[in-house]
Amino acid sequence: MAKYILEMDDIVKTFSGVKALDGVDLKVEEGEIHALVGENGAGKSTLMNVLSGVYPHGEYTGDIVFKGETCEFKRLSDSEKKGIVIIHQELALVQFLSVSENIFLGNEQSTKGVIDWGLSNKKAKALLDKVGLKINPQILVAEISVAQQQLVEIAKAMSKEVKLLILDEPTAALNDNDSENLLKLLKEFQKQGITSIIISHKLNEVIDIADKVTIIRDGKTVETLTKDNISEDRIIKGMVGRELTNRFPKRDVEIGETIFEVKNWDVYDETFRDKKKLKNINFHIKKGEVIGIAGLMGAGRTELALSIFGQSFGSKITGEMYKNGNLLKIKSIPEAISNGIAYLSEDRKSAGLNLIQSIRENISIASLDKISKNNIINYGKETKIVEEFREKLNIKSSGISQEVSSLSGGNQQKVAIGKWLLSDPDILFLDEPTRGVDVGAKYEIYSVINEIAAEGKAVCVISSELPEILGMCDRIYAMSEGIFTGEVKNENVTQEELMELMTMNIKEGVS
Ligand SMILES: Nc1ncnc2c1ncn2[C@@H]1O[C@H](COP(=O)(O)OP(=O)(O)OP(=O)(O)O)[C@@H](O)[C@H]1O
Ligand SMILES: [Mg+2]
Repeated sequence: MAKYILEMDDIVKTFSGVKALDGVDLKVEEGEIHALVGENGAGKSTLMNVLSGVYPHGEYTGDIVFKGETCEFKRLSDSEKKGIVIIHQELALVQFLSVSENIFLGNEQSTKGVIDWGLSNKKAKALLDKVGLKINPQILVAEISVAQQQLVEIAKAMSKEVKLLILDEPTAALNDNDSENLLKLLKEFQKQGITSIIISHKLNEVIDIADKVTIIRDGKTVETLTKDNISEDRIIKGMVGRELTNRFPKRDVEIGETIFEVKNWDVYDETFRDKKKLKNINFHIKKGEVIGIAGLMGAGRTELALSIFGQSFGSKITGEMYKNGNLLKIKSIPEAISNGIAYLSEDRKSAGLNLIQSIRENISIASLDKISKNNIINYGKETKIVEEFREKLNIKSSGISQEVSSLSGGNQQKVAIGKWLLSDPDILFLDEPTRGVDVGAKYEIYSVINEIAAEGKAVCVISSELPEILGMCDRIYAMSEGIFTGEVKNENVTQEELMELMTMNIKEGVS
């Protein structure tokens, strides 16, 4: 008989009358890597929060048995004591503390009652070595990449006696390379006897790594697949309740004249003002066209979009920008918006949304002129419009007054998209538009992109997922180290060729 390290039985969790979990069962065997999948809002993060004591016993019903022992955790530290460590969907490191301070936050290393920084740094270094991260533990978290932050979270987990490691979408913000390294690390941990539960919308990696997959839909367990019957099709069918034959909706749009053009765009860093971040960028977008910018992390894609979007990144910006042939002089975000430019941030939590406000307020914030008269908001109009977007984007919530912080990750992303759709831009930059979004909802977002293109607008997609770039874009610019290294028509390029352009080593570099 299988030896379960964890059995969760008939878990029910309600938020103000709405059942987020409606009798979920989950059984995890000792030493396995178990994937948890389901649509946005299905209840995955909630289930893991129940397990780790974020939602204390009493706030849910059902049983949790861990290592043969019935557990009634009251708080996170109770589950940690048993060796259950969770790394949340939205990273929770303190940006302006050092890596080592973060690793030992709440578990400070002391000698004779005084924090021992030497000891902390030494121990932190050993933990960082374990996860293969070669950085100085005294560096601030704000200075390292998201992939590195993810590894710091894992190092932090390793500082505790972990038996069951829970990772909630650990690779959502990582590129293929970094994701692969992280998954390798999980395999390493498996060899050391650590059991893992991983939540992910990247089904290819789920198939790669998982020994078992449990599918959740609408707060209920659909089924658990074992190694011999795991397949993408079966997972998708279980998740969305139907087959998804095509991942990318067809676009049938006539491409028109150039609507937007950027010429000789040079941008210096904001902090290190002698450092050139973007060099001589030239590109254009035609009406009805969807272009893509492909590049590795750090290539400068986000910086480019931000510098165009009201100079919200960079210093000493030179070059020209034209809309319909007219020179644009844009120096602030409000000016960018009023000139019909929109930018969906890659980081919804810190830059894209106001988390403590409702869906209503978040969606209407960039379009107040559309719903107000004499500077007074017409709430009736706002409600009607926001409701329309909630429906169109299928945002799972109790209503438009639900606070955005309490939405599931993927549904937060849809709110961020709704905000910019409502602003009805002519030129829309979408930076990682489907980060953390489930396969079905991805299709819906792509359909919305197609609608925008069909209206004769211009769309620029920035994405780390090459299949997405190749599935959605008419033309692609490849970028490496702040320089455009190539421009290709979609039909003429393969993923490998694109990768080659993206990793091109520019000898002269950006000087
Ligand atoms: N604190 C909360 N208050 C109210 N509702 C909540 C709260 N937390 C979660 N919910 C609701 O519970 C449901 C499940 O959310 P959960 O975050 O578990 O989804 P998920 O499966 O992790 O989705 P995603 O893939 O988008 O991260 C959602 O409908 C969400 O709106
Ligand atoms: Mg989640």
